[in-house]
Amino acid sequence: MTDQRGVLYGLGIGPGDQELITLKAFRILQSVPVVAYPAPEVGDSLARSIAAPHLSGEQTEIVIRMPMTPGNFPANDAYDRYGTEIAGHLDAGRDVAVLCEGDPFLYGSFMYMYQRLSGEYRAEVVPGVSSLGAVAAVAGRPLVSRNQVLSILPAPMDEEELEQQLAKTDAAAIMKVGRHLEKVKRVLARLGLDGGATYVEHASMPNQKIMPLSEVPADAAPYFSMVLVCPGEVGGG
Ligand SMILES: C[S@@+](CC[C@H](N)C(=O)[O-])C[C@H]1O[C@@H](n2cnc3c(N)ncnc32)[C@H](O)[C@@H]1O
Repeated sequence: MTDQRGVLYGLGIGPGDQELITLKAFRILQSVPVVAYPAPEVGDSLARSIAAPHLSGEQTEIVIRMPMTPGNFPANDAYDRYGTEIAGHLDAGRDVAVLCEGDPFLYGSFMYMYQRLSGEYRAEVVPGVSSLGAVAAVAGRPLVSRNQVLSILPAPMDEEELEQQLAKTDAAAIMKVGRHLEKVKRVLARLGLDGGATYVEHASMPNQKIMPLSEVPADAAPYFSMVLVCPGEVGGG
């Protein structure tokens, strides 16, 4: 007997530029009856704004509003609730696409939905162009070559740990900079790496900014920002 239930798609929709959506994501985006996307508790969803030109206007939309708290409890609760809502559509035979900024499996919140639903339902992950590739491209900074090691480091991590990780890698992409900008600057300065680091916010979007890290004003980084420290600047070079 064939499974009549809907398919859950984790749809990578790229870093912002609407031309950086894959043909596969584009096709699925236009064909699914239900789209879901993360959004802050108050305000618009970046994922929806990227996908907006491709939505039919007739699709059911589920806004996954997430409390931005460091602990897991409220978020887990919210994922359970939205998971149940999405499962309702899948049970009724409707495919659901969860829109993911960049790539779904690179710090993407879709993975929490995937954990909850992929055991029970058919789930397909459609990779997207990640912010990592987009940031390196717009900054004109190749990431790594030959046997060099690239570390992807979340800025919220402990200061000492961040320093240890930076000291032992060839290149680094520091993500989720936002309110951790001053800490990132401090650590890079201690390692003598601040001079060559590049700061990029909103890569590939109309409000993109690229500048040397040293020129970024204090406390001025939005959440969608990244710092690149490229080979020759970190570790053994
Ligand atoms: C929760 S992670 C999501 C990453 C996403 N899944 C991806 O594949 O790029 C959010 C972080 O990605 C980075 N980011 C995402 N889009 C970006 C963009 N367009 N420009 C700069 N950084 C971006 C920022 O560091 C941001 O804090």
